[in-house]
Amino acid sequence: PRSIWLSRHGESEFNLSGRIGGDADLSARGRAYAQKLPELIRESIGDRKITLWTSTLKRTIQTAEHLPYPKLQWKGLDELDAGVCDGLTYKEIEEKYPEDFKARDDDKYNYRYRGGESYRDVVTRLEPIIMEMERNENIMVVTHQAVIRCIYAYFMNVPQDRSPWMEIPLHTVIKLTPKAYHTEEERFFANI
Ligand code: F6P
Repeated sequence: PRSIWLSRHGESEFNLSGRIGGDADLSARGRAYAQKLPELIRESIGDRKITLWTSTLKRTIQTAEHLPYPKLQWKGLDELDAGVCDGLTYKEIEEKYPEDFKARDDDKYNYRYRGGESYRDVVTRLEPIIMEMERNENIMVVTHQAVIRCIYAYFMNVPQDRSPWMEIPLHTVIKLTPKAYHTEEERFFANI
Protein backbone atom coordinates (compact mmCIF):
# COMPACT_ATOMS: atom_id res chain seq x y z
CA PRO A 1 0.00 0.00 0.00
CA ARG A 2 1.07 3.55 -0.55
CA SER A 3 2.45 5.61 2.32
CA ILE A 4 3.36 9.17 3.14
CA TRP A 5 6.47 9.96 5.16
CA LEU A 6 6.39 13.27 7.02
CA SER A 7 9.23 15.04 8.76
CA ARG A 8 9.90 18.46 10.15
CA HIS A 9 13.25 19.90 9.05
CA GLY A 10 16.16 19.21 11.37
CA GLU A 11 16.84 21.65 14.17
CA SER A 12 17.66 25.10 12.76
CA GLU A 13 19.68 27.98 14.19
CA PHE A 14 16.34 29.73 14.83
CA ASN A 15 14.98 26.72 16.75
CA LEU A 16 18.09 26.97 18.92
CA SER A 17 17.51 30.63 19.75
CA GLY A 18 13.72 30.21 20.05
CA ARG A 19 12.94 32.47 17.07
CA ILE A 20 9.99 31.75 14.83
CA GLY A 21 9.82 31.86 11.06
CA GLY A 22 12.84 33.13 9.15
CA ASP A 23 15.03 31.23 6.72
CA ALA A 24 17.86 29.98 8.93
CA ASP A 25 20.34 27.20 8.22
CA LEU A 26 20.30 23.92 10.11
CA SER A 27 22.22 23.74 13.39
CA ALA A 28 24.93 21.09 13.86
CA ARG A 29 22.29 18.79 15.37
CA GLY A 30 19.95 19.49 12.47
CA ARG A 31 22.70 18.55 10.04
CA ALA A 32 23.28 15.33 11.97
CA TYR A 33 19.58 14.53 11.48
CA ALA A 34 19.92 15.18 7.74
CA GLN A 35 22.89 12.78 7.66
CA LYS A 36 20.96 10.12 9.50
CA LEU A 37 17.70 10.44 7.58
CA PRO A 38 18.53 8.08 4.68
CA GLU A 39 19.33 5.27 7.10
CA LEU A 40 16.36 6.07 9.34
CA ILE A 41 13.82 5.50 6.58
CA ARG A 42 15.66 3.07 4.30
CA GLU A 43 13.97 -0.04 5.62
CA SER A 44 10.46 1.39 5.69
CA ILE A 45 10.79 2.61 2.10
CA GLY A 46 12.31 -0.61 0.83
CA ASP A 47 12.45 -0.63 -2.95
CA ARG A 48 9.52 1.73 -3.42
CA LYS A 49 9.86 4.66 -5.73
CA ILE A 50 9.30 7.85 -3.80
CA THR A 51 9.26 11.55 -4.53
CA LEU A 52 10.51 14.02 -1.99
CA TRP A 53 8.71 17.29 -1.42
CA THR A 54 10.21 20.17 0.55
CA SER A 55 9.28 23.78 1.14
CA THR A 56 11.34 26.55 -0.48
CA LEU A 57 13.11 27.33 2.80
CA LYS A 58 16.74 26.38 3.38
CA ARG A 59 16.14 24.26 6.45
CA THR A 60 13.91 21.76 4.64
CA ILE A 61 16.14 21.65 1.56
CA GLN A 62 19.21 21.04 3.74
CA THR A 63 17.35 18.31 5.65
CA ALA A 64 16.56 16.48 2.41
CA GLU A 65 20.05 16.97 0.98
CA HIS A 66 21.32 13.40 1.48
CA LEU A 67 18.15 11.62 0.41
CA PRO A 68 18.62 10.04 -3.02
CA TYR A 69 15.12 10.67 -4.41
CA PRO A 70 13.71 13.06 -7.00
CA LYS A 71 12.88 16.34 -5.25
CA LEU A 72 10.28 19.02 -5.66
CA GLN A 73 10.04 22.36 -3.83
CA TRP A 74 6.62 23.78 -3.01
CA LYS A 75 6.10 27.35 -1.83
CA GLY A 76 2.81 26.06 -0.43
CA LEU A 77 4.79 23.96 2.06
CA ASP A 78 6.56 26.98 3.59
CA GLU A 79 5.99 27.58 7.30
CA LEU A 80 2.99 29.55 8.57
CA ASP A 81 3.82 33.20 7.87
CA ALA A 82 4.16 35.01 11.19
CA GLY A 83 4.02 38.46 9.52
CA VAL A 84 5.38 41.22 11.77
CA CYS A 85 6.36 38.57 14.34
CA ASP A 86 8.69 36.73 11.96
CA GLY A 87 12.10 36.37 13.60
CA LEU A 88 10.90 37.12 17.14
CA THR A 89 10.83 34.82 20.19
CA TYR A 90 7.50 34.10 21.88
CA LYS A 91 8.65 36.26 24.80
CA GLU A 92 9.34 39.19 22.47
CA ILE A 93 5.95 38.74 20.84
CA GLU A 94 4.25 38.78 24.24
CA GLU A 95 6.08 42.01 25.15
CA LYS A 96 5.55 43.77 21.85
CA TYR A 97 2.05 42.57 21.00
CA PRO A 98 0.43 41.44 24.29
CA GLU A 99 -3.12 41.51 22.90
CA ASP A 100 -2.15 39.48 19.88
CA PHE A 101 -0.33 37.01 22.06
CA LYS A 102 -3.46 36.47 24.12
CA ALA A 103 -5.76 36.40 21.10
CA ARG A 104 -3.65 33.66 19.59
CA ASP A 105 -3.77 31.62 22.75
CA ASP A 106 -7.55 32.02 22.90
CA ASP A 107 -8.13 30.90 19.31
CA LYS A 108 -4.94 29.60 17.81
CA TYR A 109 -6.66 28.13 14.75
CA ASN A 110 -8.24 31.40 13.60
CA TYR A 111 -5.69 33.90 14.88
CA ARG A 112 -3.96 35.56 11.93
CA TYR A 113 -0.58 37.21 12.54
CA ARG A 114 -0.50 40.86 11.49
CA GLY A 115 0.65 40.76 7.90
CA GLY A 116 0.80 36.98 8.08
CA GLU A 117 -1.30 33.84 8.29
CA SER A 118 -3.55 31.79 10.55
CA TYR A 119 -3.70 28.00 10.72
CA ARG A 120 -6.98 28.32 8.85
CA ASP A 121 -5.10 30.12 6.05
CA VAL A 122 -2.48 27.36 5.97
CA VAL A 123 -5.15 24.67 5.70
CA THR A 124 -6.61 26.54 2.70
CA ARG A 125 -3.30 26.92 0.91
CA LEU A 126 -2.50 23.24 1.55
CA GLU A 127 -5.67 22.03 -0.13
CA PRO A 128 -4.20 21.67 -3.65
CA ILE A 129 -1.04 20.08 -2.22
CA ILE A 130 -3.02 17.54 -0.23
CA MET A 131 -5.04 16.74 -3.36
CA GLU A 132 -1.75 16.11 -5.17
CA MET A 133 -0.64 13.90 -2.26
CA GLU A 134 -3.81 11.87 -2.59
CA ARG A 135 -3.20 11.43 -6.33
CA ASN A 136 0.43 10.42 -6.03
CA GLU A 137 2.10 7.23 -4.98
CA ASN A 138 4.69 7.22 -2.21
CA ILE A 139 5.75 10.68 -1.08
CA MET A 140 8.05 11.99 1.58
CA VAL A 141 7.35 15.55 2.75
CA VAL A 142 9.96 17.55 4.66
CA THR A 143 8.29 20.68 5.93
CA HIS A 144 7.53 22.73 9.04
CA GLN A 145 5.76 22.33 12.37
CA ALA A 146 2.50 24.16 11.56
CA VAL A 147 2.27 22.63 8.08
CA ILE A 148 2.84 19.09 9.38
CA ARG A 149 0.13 19.63 12.00
CA CYS A 150 -2.37 20.47 9.25
CA ILE A 151 -1.35 17.58 6.97
CA TYR A 152 -1.31 15.13 9.86
CA ALA A 153 -4.74 16.27 11.07
CA TYR A 154 -6.14 15.80 7.56
CA PHE A 155 -4.94 12.21 7.19
CA MET A 156 -5.55 11.21 10.81
CA ASN A 157 -9.00 12.78 10.90
CA VAL A 158 -8.18 15.12 13.76
CA PRO A 159 -10.46 18.19 13.78
CA GLN A 160 -8.37 20.99 12.22
CA ASP A 161 -9.04 23.38 15.10
CA ARG A 162 -7.21 20.97 17.40
CA SER A 163 -4.18 20.62 15.15
CA PRO A 164 -2.40 23.83 16.29
CA TRP A 165 -1.83 22.22 19.69
CA MET A 166 -0.51 18.87 18.54
CA GLU A 167 2.98 17.81 19.45
CA ILE A 168 5.12 17.20 16.36
CA PRO A 169 8.64 16.47 17.60
CA LEU A 170 11.82 17.33 15.76
CA HIS A 171 14.03 14.54 14.39
CA THR A 172 11.16 12.11 13.92
CA VAL A 173 9.69 10.64 10.75
CA ILE A 174 5.96 9.94 10.80
CA LYS A 175 4.84 7.34 8.29
CA LEU A 176 1.15 7.41 7.40
CA THR A 177 -0.51 4.61 5.45
CA PRO A 178 -4.10 5.42 4.45
CA LYS A 179 -6.38 2.38 4.60
CA ALA A 180 -10.06 2.10 3.70
CA TYR A 181 -11.42 3.34 7.02
CA HIS A 182 -8.46 4.69 8.93
CA THR A 183 -4.84 5.70 8.53
CA GLU A 184 -2.05 3.64 10.06
CA GLU A 185 0.75 5.51 11.74
CA GLU A 186 4.33 4.58 12.51
CA ARG A 187 7.07 6.80 13.93
CA PHE A 188 10.84 6.60 13.57
CA PHE A 189 12.96 8.57 16.03
CA ALA A 190 16.50 9.59 15.19
CA ASN A 191 18.50 9.42 18.34
CA ILE A 192 20.75 12.41 17.99
O1 F6P B 1 9.34 27.42 16.16
C1 F6P B 1 9.28 26.71 14.98
C2 F6P B 1 8.03 27.07 14.20
O2 F6P B 1 8.03 26.28 13.03
C3 F6P B 1 7.89 28.56 13.82
O3 F6P B 1 8.57 28.93 12.66
C4 F6P B 1 6.40 28.67 13.68
O4 F6P B 1 5.92 30.00 13.76
C5 F6P B 1 5.92 27.83 14.83
O5 F6P B 1 6.85 26.76 14.94
C6 F6P B 1 4.54 27.27 14.66
O6 F6P B 1 4.14 26.71 15.89
P1 F6P B 1 3.08 27.48 16.81
O7 F6P B 1 1.88 27.67 15.92
O8 F6P B 1 2.84 26.52 17.94
O9 F6P B 1 3.65 28.79 17.25
